[in-house]
Amino acid sequence: MLKSSKILGRSSAAFELARNIVKAAPTDASVLLVGESGTGKEVVARAIHSRSARRDAPFIALNCGAITPTLAESELFGHEKGSFTGASSTAMGCFEKAHTGTLFLDEVTEMPFAIQVQLLRVLETGQYHRVGGSEHLSTDVRIIAATNRNPKEAIRDGIFRSDLLYRLAVFPVRVPALRERQSDISYLAQRFLDELNEQEKTFKTFSAESSERLLSYSWPGNIRELKNVVTRAYILADKVVDIPPLTSSLRLLPPEIKQGFLKIPIGTPLNSAQHSIIMATLDYYGGDRRRTALALGISPKTLYNRLEQFRKTVPAEPA
Ligand SMILES: Nc1ncnc2c1ncn2[C@@H]1O[C@H](COP(=O)(O)OP(=O)(O)OP(=O)(O)O)[C@@H](O)[C@H]1O
Ligand SMILES: [Mg+2]
Repeated sequence: MLKSSKILGRSSAAFELARNIVKAAPTDASVLLVGESGTGKEVVARAIHSRSARRDAPFIALNCGAITPTLAESELFGHEKGSFTGASSTAMGCFEKAHTGTLFLDEVTEMPFAIQVQLLRVLETGQYHRVGGSEHLSTDVRIIAATNRNPKEAIRDGIFRSDLLYRLAVFPVRVPALRERQSDISYLAQRFLDELNEQEKTFKTFSAESSERLLSYSWPGNIRELKNVVTRAYILADKVVDIPPLTSSLRLLPPEIKQGFLKIPIGTPLNSAQHSIIMATLDYYGGDRRRTALALGISPKTLYNRLEQFRKTVPAEPA
């Protein structure tokens, strides 16, 4: 049976996910993973790669939300020495690094708009050249893309091209939220504890109250949050690992803002950290969205969309 089913869980949602991985893996079809933050999209992408014929070739991950519009082309396609200021040597782009392997385009809906049409063209022709170069290079990569947004909404917001979506979503896979897979919560928690015990050569066990507490929480940060909560409780425990009652105030230590600096506790879910950074920057620039977007290196449109997203999804900060 599928080895990764062990890491995925035993719920019907996990089984469905494992089935999709098995079906998609041996094909060369582009896969689009859609799921909330922390649900394991990158874990799934790696599972697909490792079960494909490309398993011995590289798996290259690119966070599309982190690349600036000016460097996007070079990140993807590489550049020749001297092609722009700072290009001191020829560099490979992600397509070249991932050649014969898998290219994982994470946060794909956040990819700078201008590069999306170029990416689409390369995916369709299989040809590209490095920035400043004339040599035609051929691509041989399998694309797996991921997003924690509804891609249709991203299209409606005008930040994501619909033709690119259709090209990427040949095989769409929804990665379920942890709260939709209740029966996996205890299973995964126990696995994380087993791993820690093995690593640290200890024999700690969960307290009787822990399982009830694990199950009565909604896990907005999904598997990542579960792993963090188990790890924290493990560190605090002598022998009996006690999961504390989970409320949003325990989940998130508030960030500390002081004279232009923001201190974010280690282990803060990325989405919350992003929320803190954006809100603090917005505050710093007195609510000026244009300057905030400029400082953060994102387009005003992306900023606007993030703020909308926060308005809908981020829970109130602890009092
Ligand atoms: N099925 C799983 N078994 C064990 N650990 C898992 C599983 N799925 C996810 N994890 C762990 O949870 C964390 C989050 O996983 P991952 O980075 O793949 O999530 P993601 O969906 O890509 O999140 P984001 O949208 O924030 O990038 C990682 O530490 C990962 O190892
Ligand atoms: Mg990820």
